[in-house]
Amino acid sequence: MGPLQIKDILQTAPENQSVVVKGWVRTKRESKNAIFIALNDGSTIHNIQAVAEPGQFSAELLLTVTTGSCLKVTGQLIASQGSGQAVEVKITDLEVYGTADPEQYPLQPKRHSLEFLREIAHLRPRTNTFSAILRIRHALAFAVHQYFNEKGFFYLHTPVITASDAEGAGEMFRVTTLDLNNLPRTEEGAINFKEDFFGREANLTVSGQLEGELGAMALSKIYTFGPTFRAENSNTTRHLAEFWMIEPEMAFFELEDNMDLAEDFVKKVITYALVNCKDDLNFLQNRLTEEEKNKPQNERSLPLLEKLAFVVDNPFERLTYTEAIEILLKSKPQKEGKFQFPVTGWGIDLSSEHERYLVEKHFKKPVILTNYPREIKSFYMKLDEDGKTVRAMDVLFPGIGEIIGGSQREENYDKLLGRVHEVGIDPENVWWYLETRKFGTAPHSGFGLGFERLVQFVTGMGNIRDVIPFPRYPKSAEF
Ligand code: 4AD
Ligand code: MG
Repeated sequence: MGPLQIKDILQTAPENQSVVVKGWVRTKRESKNAIFIALNDGSTIHNIQAVAEPGQFSAELLLTVTTGSCLKVTGQLIASQGSGQAVEVKITDLEVYGTADPEQYPLQPKRHSLEFLREIAHLRPRTNTFSAILRIRHALAFAVHQYFNEKGFFYLHTPVITASDAEGAGEMFRVTTLDLNNLPRTEEGAINFKEDFFGREANLTVSGQLEGELGAMALSKIYTFGPTFRAENSNTTRHLAEFWMIEPEMAFFELEDNMDLAEDFVKKVITYALVNCKDDLNFLQNRLTEEEKNKPQNERSLPLLEKLAFVVDNPFERLTYTEAIEILLKSKPQKEGKFQFPVTGWGIDLSSEHERYLVEKHFKKPVILTNYPREIKSFYMKLDEDGKTVRAMDVLFPGIGEIIGGSQREENYDKLLGRVHEVGIDPENVWWYLETRKFGTAPHSGFGLGFERLVQFVTGMGNIRDVIPFPRYPKSAEF
């Protein structure tokens, strides 16, 4: 089934056996006695070295072996003469599948800026940094499915096209087949969505939660893992217009159970990456250390692997929103006027500088904040007894801020309907959601993990646009 992967060849004992290697040239080096070609096929961060003798191949052919060209190399696997690798391939036959004109090929063997690489997203997976990120991304996705499968959850496929705004934030991308240059109108002059494809207004989903809840009310424990879309115009290092979200939803879970699951879940998937992505993590760690070389010692962040181990090994700090506000009001940046948005008091929506203060300065570990004011959270969250706060939980991570948002859900029909009216949702639009509270309602909870924020944390990348193959953000949907 296809050629051996370089990852496996590098682990094979060299016995002069014949091997075929296919991959892209990272570098070519010619010395008096030999020609060295470093080949990579993306299966590992490591290249395999292929060696030819001078004069073995025509100068014409060798000229086409340049960085970025694609080769099929046949030869013998031998113990490497040089240091740096255990095995190498002594070339007997060389075929160039595709050339890459050095005058035109943008990826030369030197360090390119991440901004530049974003402009060539079609080629950046061929760099060490991006191939490492993509392999780690894969490992984390695999670990997510493995975790939930082992815990008795069912993978539920919730729709991408929806008519409801689950988060009520109104940041939705419209889906329509109407002719924008010739819109059908009602008698009153409004756009007549009855003539649209679905006979009503439709959008790309911002979350699979509402449908996820329907699944949990039958299968008890489900999770979703799919793309979500938000048309928020935020040009930050932590927002994408298209991102992947993992949303478990559990019948018979209260807020405490929800927090326990969230904490165990992120720890387990990070552990999976620590165990299975050692080479890639080491590579990224060295890259980051290199980047921070010029910073004073006390401003450097923990080495990546230590940071990950720290999160896995220590319990997260749990406190209420109200307690967090008290800490923030007494904090140094608050007193010295260093917050861009000063904390004015109970009821404010925390901004990421506040979240990061709590996590990075005050507690120095991940934090789970609970029981937020009802006014700043979604309609579906269960009201606390005092009627002022809801059973919400946000998990905050160093360098990232909010990585998980979740809650216990309001399972009482009248209270939920009250909230629906309060926030101005038309109950007709969510009649099916409301019915779960009419027929066999149950306490239940769930949360959403932003997958790219997790990948960002694990890889240590500063910008979320660099942890998804083809990022979507304001004014950018190339590739
Ligand atoms: O906090 P959010 O908005 O929660 C929900 O959507 C709930 N329906 C989840 C649930 O209870 N089932 O989003 C959840 C997570 C955030 O914590 C964040 O990690 C991520 O999704 N997220 C984004 N990631 C990248 N780009 C964006 N624009 C994001 N918006 C949210
Ligand atoms: Mg949130």
